[in-house]
Amino acid sequence: MTRYNSENRLLHGGDYNPDQWLDYPEILAKDLELMQKSKSNTFSIGMFAWSQLEPTEGDYHFEWLDKIMDDIYEMGGNVILATPSGARPAWLSKKYPEVLRTNERREKMLQGGRHNHCFSSPVFREKIGIMNRKLVERYGNHPALYMWHISNEYSGECHCEYCQENFRQWLQKKYPTLKDLNDAWWGPFWSHAYSDWSEIESPSSIGETMVHGHNLDWRRFVTDQTIDFYEHEIKDIRQLTPEIPITTNFMADTHDLIPFQSLDYGKFAKHVDVISWDCYPAWHNDWETTADLASKVGFINDQYRSIKQQPFLIMESTPSGVNWHEVNKVKRPGMHLLSSMQFIAHGSDSNLYFQWRKSRGSSEKFHGAVVDHDNSEDNRVFKEVTRVGEALEKIKAVKGSYKKAKVAIIYDWENNWALNDAQGFSNASKRYPQTLQEHYRYFWNHDIAVEVITSEADFSKYELIIGPMMYLMTEDVMKRLSTYVQQGGTFVSTYITGYVNENDLTYLGGWPQPLRELFGIKVTETDTLYPKDRNAVHYADQSFEAKDYCSLFELEGADVLGTYTEDFYAGKPAITRNQYGQGAAYFIGARTNLDFLERFYGELAKAKDLENAWVIKGDPDVSVQSRDFEDQSYRFVMNFSEETKEIQVATAGVDLITRTAHPTTLTLAPYEVLLLEEN
Ligand code: GLA
Ligand code: ZN
Repeated sequence: MTRYNSENRLLHGGDYNPDQWLDYPEILAKDLELMQKSKSNTFSIGMFAWSQLEPTEGDYHFEWLDKIMDDIYEMGGNVILATPSGARPAWLSKKYPEVLRTNERREKMLQGGRHNHCFSSPVFREKIGIMNRKLVERYGNHPALYMWHISNEYSGECHCEYCQENFRQWLQKKYPTLKDLNDAWWGPFWSHAYSDWSEIESPSSIGETMVHGHNLDWRRFVTDQTIDFYEHEIKDIRQLTPEIPITTNFMADTHDLIPFQSLDYGKFAKHVDVISWDCYPAWHNDWETTADLASKVGFINDQYRSIKQQPFLIMESTPSGVNWHEVNKVKRPGMHLLSSMQFIAHGSDSNLYFQWRKSRGSSEKFHGAVVDHDNSEDNRVFKEVTRVGEALEKIKAVKGSYKKAKVAIIYDWENNWALNDAQGFSNASKRYPQTLQEHYRYFWNHDIAVEVITSEADFSKYELIIGPMMYLMTEDVMKRLSTYVQQGGTFVSTYITGYVNENDLTYLGGWPQPLRELFGIKVTETDTLYPKDRNAVHYADQSFEAKDYCSLFELEGADVLGTYTEDFYAGKPAITRNQYGQGAAYFIGARTNLDFLERFYGELAKAKDLENAWVIKGDPDVSVQSRDFEDQSYRFVMNFSEETKEIQVATAGVDLITRTAHPTTLTLAPYEVLLLEEN
């Protein structure tokens, strides 16, 4: 048998849990039929199958998985095979309680749920190591095997004795002496200096969490320890199947759809071959417009494309509703195709679902699925899924294409952690990720491609870099940004930038000298406003509301573009521009509403020729995103509104999804999506 070649198709399918249906052969047979009918080609299997693979210790059962792998191969499909560490069988917890996680209150958890093992436990590592070795030995050459799916949504932290010891070792590797650690953590504060390494423990809410350097190092350790566990899981897999790509499914923070908070995915991404992630926007919710939400979905997808500078995969999404939002609304007709195409438009080479078949019992029995309990292909959701499957076949030419972008926004996990910890400013209104999404919004509204990068990225490929609220900024990043601007780049930053270094220690001597030179200003104070307080900024003959934060600064060479109009700093500079070398650095001193950002970035985009030249007359609710090859672009035109919209574009084209020709005036029904091939 030769490995099924799926290089030329977009992936469609998703999490398939035959392990729940082994006593229902007629269901398993029906699945194969429905997989083909829905134009599904790829299935993630085994995420939670440990108790079916090894029902009692050392007693392995792979026959059922052999059959599923063969059946899927025979019907022309692929398998993304998971390692089952996402959930444990009860025998494992019973016999080896060390595998159970200990929470930050030092309470040992009980068996149950999932995603809750100790990352340090030697027994857990041994058991999963044996399991993974068996999986790779048995299926490494199976022609259906397309990719490895390591565990599931790694997350959380463990505070057991093994983890404490690993934390201390991690610290000893990082700090040459205990004095270095005490200095970095500002030890004498409230008598927190240590006299011996053994005194150090993880931060806890029943102990202390106000030593910010300690918290920051703990979060770094949790990321590193999670990656270490992942590396342990893939050791034999990498060795025996070097040609099969490895991924693990990343997440976003869900209610608000902001980047995932607790692991540094910028770091983790270096260890996976392909980024994949699970995207669950609450479409049709009652607190924001469809376009508001679509823009946030765009932001996170752009982030996952940008981190590795390559296409990514949507590993999970729902065909209808989920079971864990506060209200689990189903997707309205048309939304499924639109939202699936949006993933592709931002760089995904798949739309995969959770779940293929709706579970019969337990907590996910009402979570959206391709196949419902009715087992029927006449079901509305099944039909919408089939439509997506057909569309993905028609647009497969986009597979592998990237996206040309000249604008980047910096998102930094460590900065986010440090800023959230900072006691000062206003804890409720810091909103670092949301602020980035607000700056992003101008570009989304105007169909300008953006990359969301970390502060480690190569800055030189961008015309414009936006780094709001870079509270934690290392001297190295200051230097690299200065070089970037010196050589012709444009950098925009804001209030609450440049306060602390990598240890969360403030810079001494006032605002850091490299930033003073770069921006031509010296920040002296940051005024924090009450929620109802307002100031205003006079900018370009208009007055814009200022809220939450107003930085006060002295000019050291910058030009003033905007001034405050109220309070004791009325008339003082609020927005500046500094020519620095070949480039320019802008400083937005106050938090504003979108109207200001529209005006500010509108002028910048025009001056720097960043506007989307293909869109002659656009609409903020109609998103245009392209997937590009060197010499060809595919343009997705997506109406994220409940109204018919019309936009004007530069060239006529043919929609790949419906194969219909379109003039340069495009009329889009609510939720309609077109994919126009440049011709
Ligand atoms: C996560 C998990 C899945 C499933 C879905 C439900 O993404 O990875 O196993 O529980 O949520 O939305
Ligand atoms: Zn532990």
